Amino acid sequence: MTWSVGAGLEGRGVILTGATGGIGAAVARGFAAAGARVMAVDLDQARVDDLVGTLEGSGHVAVVADLRDLGSHDALVEQALRELGEVYVLANLAAVLRRRGSLDEVTEDDWDFQHDINVKSAFFLSRAAGNAMIAAGKGGRIILFSSQGWWTGGFGGSVAYASSKGGVTTLCRGLARTFGPHQITVNCVSPGQVNTPMLMTGLAPEVYETMKKQTPLGYVAEPEELAGPVVFLASDHAKYITGATLNVSGGFLMY
Ligand SMILES: NC(=O)c1ccc[n+]([C@@H]2O[C@H](COP(=O)([O-])OP(=O)(O)OC[C@H]3O[C@@H](n4cnc5c(N)ncnc54)[C@H](O)[C@@H]3O)[C@@H](O)[C@H]2O)c1
Repeated sequence: MTWSVGAGLEGRGVILTGATGGIGAAVARGFAAAGARVMAVDLDQARVDDLVGTLEGSGHVAVVADLRDLGSHDALVEQALRELGEVYVLANLAAVLRRRGSLDEVTEDDWDFQHDINVKSAFFLSRAAGNAMIAAGKGGRIILFSSQGWWTGGFGGSVAYASSKGGVTTLCRGLARTFGPHQITVNCVSPGQVNTPMLMTGLAPEVYETMKKQTPLGYVAEPEELAGPVVFLASDHAKYITGATLNVSGGFLMY
């Protein structure tokens, strides 16, 4: 292994979903800085084009897909094989959060919307990417995104969201067992509070302040502080880590 921050990522193909989100854009920059080629996937063409236009290095691709359409997943993987030459990493950040003031306000649509994107599409896209990695026979990395809610049950009207993230954490473990023999690692990153539009949407200021006070590091993470952990999990430094949930919460949770 050549000792560098992105060891093993130079020239490798990465599918990154939720790429134009707060954390996603920082992760895209991290992968590009490590020398990888990024297929940036999100909902809005202009935003993925803008992001890809600012990434260092070359060979990045901007793609629009609504991941609720499970039929789009094989097409994404095929496009990555064509345009990046391989799928070595899937970093799946796409997710939605709908806060509701009480349990009674949670509709069936709220439940389905969050579970469809956060956990159902994570399963089917991981399966499509994992199968391509198996076919290529060179191992791979799958990185899923959980949340402190998987452990706490969620704050600020986010029970359904937290449930979906519990699903993601368990999914990560099951996929890690299944894909391990193929040298494909599957891990989860679990942020606490991160300064992005998702965090602030509908969040009561007192919940934000309380969580901040309960964070030993005393501040809310910037998106860049999540990029390093993702690049680490994708690099050769983490080749013997699988099925892990990496707690990146400033000490808000300790496990
Ligand atoms: N911000 C936080 O405090 C926080 C805390 C815990 C976990 N997380 C997790 O981190 C990840 C990134 O979150 P973020 O804060 O950057 O959120 P964000 O809302 O800024 O980004 C999420 C991205 O996912 C995309 N997306 C949503 N639905 C999609 C769909 N159907 N198809 C394709 N793309 C879709 C959105 O367009 C958006 O760009 C998420 O998995 C989130 O659950 C965030």
